Amino acid sequence: MDWEKYLREEALTDYEKYVSPGKLRTYRFLGFDFIPVKNEGVWIHDHKGRKYVNCRSSGGVFNFGHRPQELIDELEKALELFDIGDHLLMSGARAALAKKLAELTPGDIQYTVFGVGGGEAVDLAIKLSRAHTSRPKVISAFGGYHGHTGFALATGDEDFKKYFGPLAPGFVQVPFGDLKALEKEMDETTAAVIFETIPATYGIKIPPADFFPGVRKLCDQRGAVMIDDEVQAGLGRTGRLWAIEEYDVVPDIMVMGKGLSGAVYPMSATCFRPFLNKFFEEHPFIHVSTMGGSEVGCLVTLKVLELTGKPEFLAAVRKKSELFAKGLAELKGKHPKLVRENRCKGLMIGIGMADAKYGPLLTMALAKNGVIALFAHNDPSAMIIMPPLIISEAEIAFVLEALEKSFSELENFSA
Ligand SMILES: Cc1ncc(COP(=O)(O)O)c(C=O)c1O
Repeated sequence: MDWEKYLREEALTDYEKYVSPGKLRTYRFLGFDFIPVKNEGVWIHDHKGRKYVNCRSSGGVFNFGHRPQELIDELEKALELFDIGDHLLMSGARAALAKKLAELTPGDIQYTVFGVGGGEAVDLAIKLSRAHTSRPKVISAFGGYHGHTGFALATGDEDFKKYFGPLAPGFVQVPFGDLKALEKEMDETTAAVIFETIPATYGIKIPPADFFPGVRKLCDQRGAVMIDDEVQAGLGRTGRLWAIEEYDVVPDIMVMGKGLSGAVYPMSATCFRPFLNKFFEEHPFIHVSTMGGSEVGCLVTLKVLELTGKPEFLAAVRKKSELFAKGLAELKGKHPKLVRENRCKGLMIGIGMADAKYGPLLTMALAKNGVIALFAHNDPSAMIIMPPLIISEAEIAFVLEALEKSFSELENFSA
């Protein structure tokens, strides 16, 4: 197959005919109607010879950019020794990765069950919480997002789940960051409380400093399991290895995915404290995943953790965050009618726009100006900027310039 020729000449037509005409319609509207031909570092090169900085990073998958050489090398090396592995047999690769995660996660979090995607890992967290507590209720946040699988879907907003009922019962939502509302909802039937550390699909909402310590306290008082979803916020995204470290809180279960794969092999993980393992001691084969924790993926993930955990890597993320914060503050000063607030935690950035129409409009303008970023599905007034963590200062300047051009175009458009 001549991939270069196919991608440039035929892939878009085949995508429309065999994958999804509906998606292509939306991509055309947003200016995303391109087929990537070659992706490298922070850049996507399309079939018409244009290039874009990927400021989506697929929600944190591309922390090391597209096709990172060090991780490709690791995958190739892993294939000399391992394959996916048989999920019903023991695995040295899974043992080594679980040990590393126990070292790196907060407090006494010790055990890990591996999966392929984040939704699967969330589903398991909820299964474990219900099994451990023998209670039904699961509380999540309005605007939160934990995936499209069974229990994960049930935690989410109506928009995603209204066509698929009846869903699993027992799921309720409260406003994110509101301890009083959470306290009111928690009772003796509550199995678990699940929040993203920083809700991404809700437009990067930074919780009040006392929120997670308060959640921890309420869970302790009511005997509920505290689940922390670090699928987007974890792995260096906020300038710390785990976003929850900022709040000095040890959750009972941490869920991670996306960037764990290094963008070259799928991997997700549900990590939990020893007291929750009692259930698995009694039922060690109650949850399995054929592709979960593939052995070659484990070796890639070990490398991802080694690179991400380096203090100089995390310090660089914080420095890049400052560059964005400074640039965005200037843009807010120049365009007060468009921008209400900037929310920066490391390279997890939300731009709160003055109106819900501005998120989609800014998405389109940015694509035209060489940046792929998307408004937040659960709050279209918010623009999400999540570049690869390896973005250079020159590339940050390019993104800020594209934002400046796009804001000016929006001002002219709405004038
Ligand atoms: C915070 C969060 N949790 C869970 C998921 C689900 O992950 P996956 O799409 O890999 O199932 C996502 C996906 O975007 C997410 O953003």
